[in-house]
Amino acid sequence: MTPPNLTLENSLRLFEKAAQLIPGGSQTSSKRPTQFAPGGYPIFAERGQGGHIVDVDGNEYIDLVQALGPIVLGYQYPAVDDAIRAQLARGFLYGLLSPLEPACAELICQVVPCAEMVRFFKGGGEATAAAARTVRAYTGRELILNSGYRGWPDVWSAENGDAGIPAVLQSSVRAFPKFDLDILSDHFRRDGDHIAAVFLDIQREDPPPGYLAAVKELCHHHGALLVYDEIVTGFRLAVGGAQEYYGVAPDLACFAKALANGMPLACVAGRRDVMTTMAERRISITYGGEALSLAAAVATLTELQTEPVISRLWALGARLKTGLNETAEDMDIPFRCGGLEPMTTMDFTRHDGQDDTLLWHYFLQEMAVRGVLLRRGGLNFVNYSHTETDIDTVVAKTAEVFHELRQVWGTPALQQRVEARRAGTVRA
Ligand SMILES: Cc1ncc(COP(=O)(O)O)c(C=O)c1O
Repeated sequence: MTPPNLTLENSLRLFEKAAQLIPGGSQTSSKRPTQFAPGGYPIFAERGQGGHIVDVDGNEYIDLVQALGPIVLGYQYPAVDDAIRAQLARGFLYGLLSPLEPACAELICQVVPCAEMVRFFKGGGEATAAAARTVRAYTGRELILNSGYRGWPDVWSAENGDAGIPAVLQSSVRAFPKFDLDILSDHFRRDGDHIAAVFLDIQREDPPPGYLAAVKELCHHHGALLVYDEIVTGFRLAVGGAQEYYGVAPDLACFAKALANGMPLACVAGRRDVMTTMAERRISITYGGEALSLAAAVATLTELQTEPVISRLWALGARLKTGLNETAEDMDIPFRCGGLEPMTTMDFTRHDGQDDTLLWHYFLQEMAVRGVLLRRGGLNFVNYSHTETDIDTVVAKTAEVFHELRQVWGTPALQQRVEARRAGTVRA
């Protein structure tokens, strides 16, 4: 049975206004309607609770987008929200420091293997930029080898030569392909004396066995530092992040997202001798000691240490992966849910001449009308408040969609279905 179209009138109307007032219509490029299924997918949220969100038209969804990763415990998670409320009653930004700064730093040092000292920031890109300045100052070298997205600051965007970034910065950061030790070794052979650090993250798959240890050895052999971007993996793969999970600690690591269950907090943590370099540089922000986010982080880290959060994320993610992959196989749909269980990937593995974007628009909007929000390709995230029933519902709704997709696969009816849904979203 095909469910009725979603009503998205309020979302669509609000976005018309946002597009006039906000460049790009939103603050986050990955949250723009074009990233999902424009016209057939909600745009504005009204509230979140546990693993669900409600949009501004009153439609409720099981949410696996999870604000792009920060919501690790759940929306309106009581221990976190209570900590925020308690701090709110005392004020949250002063000319004096907040006692939560050392308290939160101490908790991070207890759980993150590389952490001997911590500096707080507001966003992930800000933390990675601070780490870049620090490794350059510490080593007295300029060149950074980087694999992956580190945020919008010039230091990183220089790599792709974006408009607005001085060309002179381009030679100071060099991209290398993920998990390719040979290419990385070549860079060190040619420019070993100029390389300050290697920055990398782990996102969609395990690194090859021995890779992280080999990169660390290569860096140290040449007097360079190893920095992990744990903005997605931190407090999610394990309490101590990817470095705990894979058993190889870097010299520095950057965190954000899950650190404060969605409150705006990021940090750089790492070796004391490297971190103290920050004290002498002008790396300084007004809002680093903002206490609502720090209170949220202390509550989140405490939950992570005392409750079986991480094992549950893995179990729910495994249930999702197994359920979706069995469904795809049963229905003969070339679809694969992969990646690491707390942060899964999704791909159509064959297209038979159909455009991948069209397939995703179809899938995302058919799932949305059935009350499930997903992100194209992933990463899709489970949180501690999702229930087994939520996951089983996602799998059951996927089965419904795949059943229908089988009938339109490879035919013009697929595009017609996408367009018909879009046309229907403005009707009550
Ligand atoms: C791995 C990684 N690093 C850095 C960033 C940038 O973080 P922010 O958007 O908080 O600046 C992101 C954002 O998604 C990310 O996924």
